[in-house]
Parts: sequence; C-alpha cells; structure tokens
Amino acid sequence: MPVKPRKILVTSALPYVNGSPHMGHLVGYLQTDIWVRFQKLRGHDCLYVCASDTHGTPIMIKARELGITPEALTERYGAEFERDFADFGIEFDNYHTTHSPENEALTVEMFEALKANGDIDTRPIEQAYDEKEGLFLPDRFVRGTCPNCGSGDQYGDSCEVCGATYSPSDLIDPVSVLSGTTPVKRESEHYFFKLGNYETKLKAWMQSAGLDRNVVAKLDEWFDAGLRDWDISRDAPYFGFRIPGTTDKYFYVWLDAPVGYPASFKNLCDRRDDLDFDEYWRPGNDTELYHFIGKDILYFHTLFWPAVLEGSGFRTPSSVFAHGFLTINGQKMSKSRGTFVKARSYLNHLDPSYLRYYYAAKLGPTIEDIDLNLDDFVARVNADLIGKLVNIASRCAGFIGKRFDGRLAAALPDQDLFDRFASESETIAAHYERREYSKAMRLIMTLADEANRYIDERKPWIMAREENRGAEVQQVCTQGLNLFRSLTIYLSPVVPAVADAAREFLDENRWTWEDAQRPLLGSVIRKFTPLLTRVETDPVNRMLAEGADAGTHG
Ligand code: 2FM
Ligand code: ZN
Repeated sequence: MPVKPRKILVTSALPYVNGSPHMGHLVGYLQTDIWVRFQKLRGHDCLYVCASDTHGTPIMIKARELGITPEALTERYGAEFERDFADFGIEFDNYHTTHSPENEALTVEMFEALKANGDIDTRPIEQAYDEKEGLFLPDRFVRGTCPNCGSGDQYGDSCEVCGATYSPSDLIDPVSVLSGTTPVKRESEHYFFKLGNYETKLKAWMQSAGLDRNVVAKLDEWFDAGLRDWDISRDAPYFGFRIPGTTDKYFYVWLDAPVGYPASFKNLCDRRDDLDFDEYWRPGNDTELYHFIGKDILYFHTLFWPAVLEGSGFRTPSSVFAHGFLTINGQKMSKSRGTFVKARSYLNHLDPSYLRYYYAAKLGPTIEDIDLNLDDFVARVNADLIGKLVNIASRCAGFIGKRFDGRLAAALPDQDLFDRFASESETIAAHYERREYSKAMRLIMTLADEANRYIDERKPWIMAREENRGAEVQQVCTQGLNLFRSLTIYLSPVVPAVADAAREFLDENRWTWEDAQRPLLGSVIRKFTPLLTRVETDPVNRMLAEGADAGTHG
C-alpha cells in the first residue's frame, strides 16, 4: 500500500439526455464505477464526477416536438439517467448538468483565453438552412440521395449503403428532416478554433498519456491527415450558451460538453471545504485526471479537449481510457430485432450484480466491442458468482451458525492456503489498475475453484456426523469462510451489493483492500442468508420482450 494516497479525479462521458439510458450506456459507466470503487478501496482519494450533456439542436428539436422547454426535457431524462445509474450501483461524487452557471463561466473563460492567444478565427461559411423552420440544419437533419452510389434517403454526412462521406450540399434532392422542404444554402459568420496551433503540444501529450495502442494508431492517422480548424459556433435558434459579444451566436454543444467535467467538479468544490478546484484543474499539481469514454468520441477527447485545456491555462488529462461498443447476441442493439434493452427494462427483471459481473468478465483496456450473449450471461453468472463464489459461503456458514453459535475458530488450519490467496492481491490489483477486468475475474474465479476444492476434500458435512471432530469442522469452515471473504473483498468493486451483504454476514464494519491480508478469527458472525440467487432464463426473456414492446410503441 502506498504511504501517500493518490488524488484522482475520474469522469465518464456525459450522457446526452435526449432519450432513456440503455444497456450500451452501461458499459462505460460500469467500467468507470468499478475502477473508482477499486481506487477508493485501495485507500486513494478518488472522486468520480459526471453530468447531463444538455445542449444542441437535437435536444432543442425534441423539446419543441413535445411542446416543452429544453430545460424541462433535459431535467426529465437527466433524472432518469441518475435513477438508473444509482440502481445499478454507479456512485458519483457529483452528478451535475452542462446547463449550469459553473459550466457557462468556465466555457467563457476558456474561450476568452483562446481568443487572447490568437487561437480563434472567424469567417463566413455556407450551410443548409430550413426556411420553413427558420434554422440551420445539422448534417444529420438533411436527407437525400447519395452522390456516390445513388441510394435514396441517406444522411447529409454519410451514406449507410456505400460508406461514402460528404457534406449535405453534395446530396441529390436534399430535404430537411424537420419540414420536408428543400433546404437552401445560407451564409453566416462562424468561430473556429485553430487546432493546428497545438499539434506539437498534442503530440507531446499523446506520448505522456500512456494511451492504448489502438488509440495511438488513430491519433497518428489524424495527425497524418492534418489538424483542421474546428467550428465551435452555431447560429440562433440554438439551445446553449451565447458567445459573449454576439446576439445570435452560440457555443457548439461539443465545446461546452467536456467543460462539464470541470464544471461538475467546481459545483462539488462549492459544497466541500476540503476540495480545491485548482489543485485538480491547474497545471503543476500532482493530482491525476482520467476520462473514460466510448471509442466514438476519441477525437473530441484526445485532440480538441487537451488542446482547449492547454491553451486556456488548465491542466491536460493524465490519460483518456476508451472502450468499445456493446452488441447483444452478436448484433448491434436494434428495436426491430427485439434486442433494444433499456437500462430500466433490465432492472425490472434482473439483479444489477449479474450485469456488473458479466461486463467485468468481458472488459479489457482496449476499444474492442463487447458482446452481451444472453445464454452465456445466464451460464456465466450462475457458474461463477453462484456456483463458485456464493457456494463457498453457503457450504460453510450453516455449520458455524448451528454448531458453534456463529463463532469462527481462533486459528486457521491451513494458513498457507490463506496466504496464497493473500499473495495474489497485488496481481489482481494491477489488473484492475490497468482495466484488465476480465483477467482479474479469471484469476479470482481460479482461486474460488481452489477454495471449493479445499472444502470438497475436507468434507465438513461428513466430519460433522462423526464423533470428536467438532473442532475440525469449525476450523475447516472458518478456513472456507476466510477464503470466501478474501475473494469477496477482491470482487467488491464489481459487485458491491454482494460484498456489502457478505460483510454484514461476517459482521464487519468496513473493508479495505488490505483486509484480505489478515483472516477473520474468533469472532461471531451473523445468520447466513443467500447472498445472491441464480439467474433464470424467464426474466431474461421478459426483459427482451419489454424491449420489443418499446420498439413497437416508440
Ligand atoms: O457522445 C455523447 O453521448 C456525448 N454526450 C458525450 C459527451 S462527453 C463530454 F465531452 F461531455
Ligand atoms: Zn452511397
């Protein structure tokens, strides 16, 4: 254990709150939550902040369609995200919103600093404009025939049939998705961030950030292609922050979205005397900052965001951790295939611990996609969590409870075996630290097999029927329960609810990672109740049916 706790600030990508959370969202938040819980268990000062990402045209349009304000819309979905996160055991130190005074102040501060550096240009550009609706159309709001292959009804930025990318003005027979009218070209003045000014600094940052190999490869591609100016403004009407000194220009949502990280932290600092904003966000401090994100938003987090921070007097991230997408039964989540599952549908039928474990068993540190194969999910959770882990406790607990009034033996019969489990502590910790969760789970389950083998060989249920072997029964079961306890400590970042129940059963107040180094001896434990029951197939099917239903109605 390091003498001095590390000070670590962690974020997950801010969810865009124009719809409900689904199973794909959970990959990133669970990956982050597990890492944060691990750091806290190790005794570090680790803080986890997040917020709703609220601005931009899609939210403005959806609110308009529903006849409510964008504020009301984002509060409604934001609350849904917060509830689902909490019910999956995802524990933030702060959950805020990008539509906040803290965010506006920081965004303006950064923009002014960039402007003072000469990093901001203005020039007129031409864009698709919907005259009926009275607004400029983002690329995705224009559809038409692909100029490359001639397929009809394609998005304004790319063709789903041939994969070509282009701009909406290249489309044949373009129409506005909003009004069905033909968009016209209209000119307006835009603000650009000169990303190229930061090329050297970004390359240096990339070297220092210990990024995943695949992420570095992507960055190299982008550097080779050349860093282009980034359009950071949008015209009114727009839901966002107005650019100072203008009457009808707003910051593009992707400028203020990542500012939501420091803004959420600022909001937390204002409530907590022990936290100093500058210590985490200004250069020259020994705090650490990590962003967990999906692979689709790498460009924003590894180029734009570090450049904006660098240019405006803020610290850059220690690293950015990208994960892949989720497939269900090998396919992209899809309403028509009946594999679109909202987070809430899962919660209506299944225990969150199952999913936390299953994702952990699949997750590594790369941008590879992970698959939620539902047959495998049922089999894996039952085999590992129930068949291996919980089984250790249920085979030993009864004897201690009934025959020894719940008292554990005063010494272990096999200290070496306990020490072997203890000696894996740093290997398991290193796996967690590097986000090699699947490796950590595999090692823990191999140890669980050993623990079960120990009990199989000693057969306390036979000893219990023989005379004069009472002390042995107590010792063997104490050994088994201690092995279970060590493994549960190792697993607690992944399945905190199971760990809490186990800790209460063992009548302990709190656990740290170090507690797996010392056995629990001679104390009285509580009555055993099943810590987790088997996953059944029926609720899994009911969950899928709920998703298919949502598909037909929504
Ligand atoms: O991709 C998304 O869903 C964005 N809302 C993520 C934003 S992350 C951060 F930059 F705010
Ligand atoms: Zn095409």
